[in-house]
Amino acid sequence: MTHYDARGLALSTDQAAVAAYGQALDLFNSLRLDPVAVLQPALEQDPDFIAGHQMMAGFMLSAIDAQLLPAARASLAAAAASRRRPDERERSFQAALQAWADGDMGGANRLLDRHLVDHPRDLFALQLTHMADLVLGQSSMLRDRIGRARSQWSADDVGYGYVLGMHAFGLEECNEYGRAEALGQEALARNPQDTWAVHAVAHVYEMQGRTAEGIRWLTTETSLWQQDNALAVHNHWHLALQHLRNDDHASALALYDRVVAPGPAAMALDLVDASALLWRLGLRGVDVAARWRVLAPRWRDQAAWGWSVFNDVHAMLALVGAGEPASIETGRRAMAAVPDSAPAPWWKQAQTLCDAVMAFGEGRYGHCAQLLLPLLPVAHGFGGSQAQRSLIFLTATEAARRAGDEALWQALTGEARARVTAAAGHRPRLRPKPRLEAA
Ligand SMILES: [Fe+2]
Repeated sequence: MTHYDARGLALSTDQAAVAAYGQALDLFNSLRLDPVAVLQPALEQDPDFIAGHQMMAGFMLSAIDAQLLPAARASLAAAAASRRRPDERERSFQAALQAWADGDMGGANRLLDRHLVDHPRDLFALQLTHMADLVLGQSSMLRDRIGRARSQWSADDVGYGYVLGMHAFGLEECNEYGRAEALGQEALARNPQDTWAVHAVAHVYEMQGRTAEGIRWLTTETSLWQQDNALAVHNHWHLALQHLRNDDHASALALYDRVVAPGPAAMALDLVDASALLWRLGLRGVDVAARWRVLAPRWRDQAAWGWSVFNDVHAMLALVGAGEPASIETGRRAMAAVPDSAPAPWWKQAQTLCDAVMAFGEGRYGHCAQLLLPLLPVAHGFGGSQAQRSLIFLTATEAARRAGDEALWQALTGEARARVTAAAGHRPRLRPKPRLEAA
């Protein structure tokens, strides 16, 4: 009973389960809800469907939320318990997913490296690895892994548009903005449901400082991502960033209250966006203390200290914002206890980053800037996108301003102007230096 998916991958199950697998994959590719609900009945119908259980495990792992690790491990155990013999592709994928579920995302990523060399048309594995590359801060692989696989695809293949959308995002993260925008648009012309392609183009506008286009893009030019989509909060976060570029704090706050503030079902990724937006508003002097006090308990309940550097630092932002010394201490101790042998090498830097965040919260701005300056050249290890990591740079800049460190503030604001100028492809213009005003 071997059947094949739309790209020719062998799936050992019945025809109905193959159809469910394909439908769940298409939902996952476009980040629409709810692929789990589509796949689950197929697994109940055929409990020996190895690739189906692996897909379910991948759904759980892709959320980057430690609360879902037990479910991921249960799915992998179900795959291992199948009465069918796994083929080479299934064995290879199982090993990688197991490493990820055991806490070694870096090791999983290396196994997926080879898996995708041997199976470049395994679209689920390709997207999952793309997400791992993002979390691990592997910018060049966001581009090159997709480029490597793309040569084994043809434009007529089912799902090829999603490959283009991922390539667009990878190109954007590698500062190739023109190609990224063109590929993102091409992906969307093929499939308007491709939320990742919408997101890739939104990143282009953000990095090039094209504020009006960015707002139009996420309000009037695209809309399918706004409902029932796992990226709805994050793309609204991008829209809020464009409002902040316009110094339109009211619109950013309204978006926070309407969409970004976590609802009951919010997962860690949503809490990350909430922390990141409130922190940026706070850097701009907007009073968000009441919102921090609502957000912090969510992190207290959902933080899984020591599993994700990126999540832990965003949890710390909320705890510092809300002024919760006991919870801050819990987090600090848990992060300090992560062994040096842990797969994500950025734990030590993350502790420094947390110390800097605490210093900022306590008004020790000079110390904050001093801690952050050496982190700027190695910030990619924090993971996430360039736009997300710029939080570190923005904090250093504002700390320098509030500390009255004119030289550092001039240096960092000059760096930021030069970066946007270069990204936009403009020739640099000589402008009079702005003066630092007393905080
Ligand atoms: Fe993003």
